[in-house]
Amino acid sequence: MAFLVEGCTALVTGANQGIGLGFVEVLLARGASKVYATARRAETLPGLAALDPERVVALALDVTDDGQRQAVAAAATDVTLLINNAGIPGSDIDAERRMLAASSLADARLVMETDCWAPLEMCRLLAPVIKANGGGAICNIISIGALFCVPEVSSYSVAKAALAMATAGIRAELDRDPVLVAGVFTAGVKTRMSAKNADPQCTPAEHAEQVLAALEAGEEDIYSGEGAAALRDELARDPKAFERRLIERFYTDPLTLS
Ligand SMILES: NC(=O)c1ccc[n+]([C@@H]2O[C@H](COP(=O)([O-])OP(=O)(O)OC[C@H]3O[C@@H](n4cnc5c(N)ncnc54)[C@H](OP(=O)(O)O)[C@@H]3O)[C@@H](O)[C@H]2O)c1
Repeated sequence: MAFLVEGCTALVTGANQGIGLGFVEVLLARGASKVYATARRAETLPGLAALDPERVVALALDVTDDGQRQAVAAAATDVTLLINNAGIPGSDIDAERRMLAASSLADARLVMETDCWAPLEMCRLLAPVIKANGGGAICNIISIGALFCVPEVSSYSVAKAALAMATAGIRAELDRDPVLVAGVFTAGVKTRMSAKNADPQCTPAEHAEQVLAALEAGEEDIYSGEGAAALRDELARDPKAFERRLIERFYTDPLTLS
């Protein structure tokens, strides 16, 4: 089912920088009627509203805060497109992002809360709103790292894989409604999160253009950013060889986070 961006009312989480900000800018450029640009840090809200005072409504939203989630859903009753973008890669301390080396699973639980349960809660709050408005789309920004374990950030892969599965469940439950449910398997976008990654990267605006074009084409599984489709294809050709390559990288030249 195709989704028309022009004239839509969108809600973007984590809109103050990176991929989320790219979505806000491109939604406005493509003729969205209104964009609820949400961010957890209050000091970033005036800058978001200033992007287009007529069409941007900037709202405080820490996606892990249930009270704020409820308040945003109560305010944004005209939403037709939900973009669940906010996410974290996990601790700055390498060991804390791993399954056995971590001092506890506290950081993994925070990643799970932020990257899986929070977007799922947003879907639960906004799906009825989108349906009441005649239909629209839910767009969950997952990661290509949901399809395989990235050992340097295995808690992130766990959370994103769970979000991918939750997205499929939501799609099934909305199958008889006019709501496109898209999972975005992103890779290679130049942001704070990927600042130390030397691989080729596109800009957040280029990524947003790709994703919104895919929504307009009715795509449910979107491989956007630099290298996402190539990684998907390499994995499909030989999953064990792919896993072995990532394990060898983990021991010889591990990824570093900012
Ligand atoms: N960059 C890539 O190549 C890439 C690849 C695959 C997937 N992704 C996914 O794309 C999404 C955006 O990442 P990015 O690359 O744009 O990273 P980023 O530049 O670090 O931006 C992350 C955004 O999420 C917000 N955020 C984090 N925790 C939040 C919370 N509890 N409540 C509300 N907002 C929160 C951050 O807010 P603050 O500014 O307050 O920290 C920031 O706006 C994430 O879901 C990420 O996993 C990115």
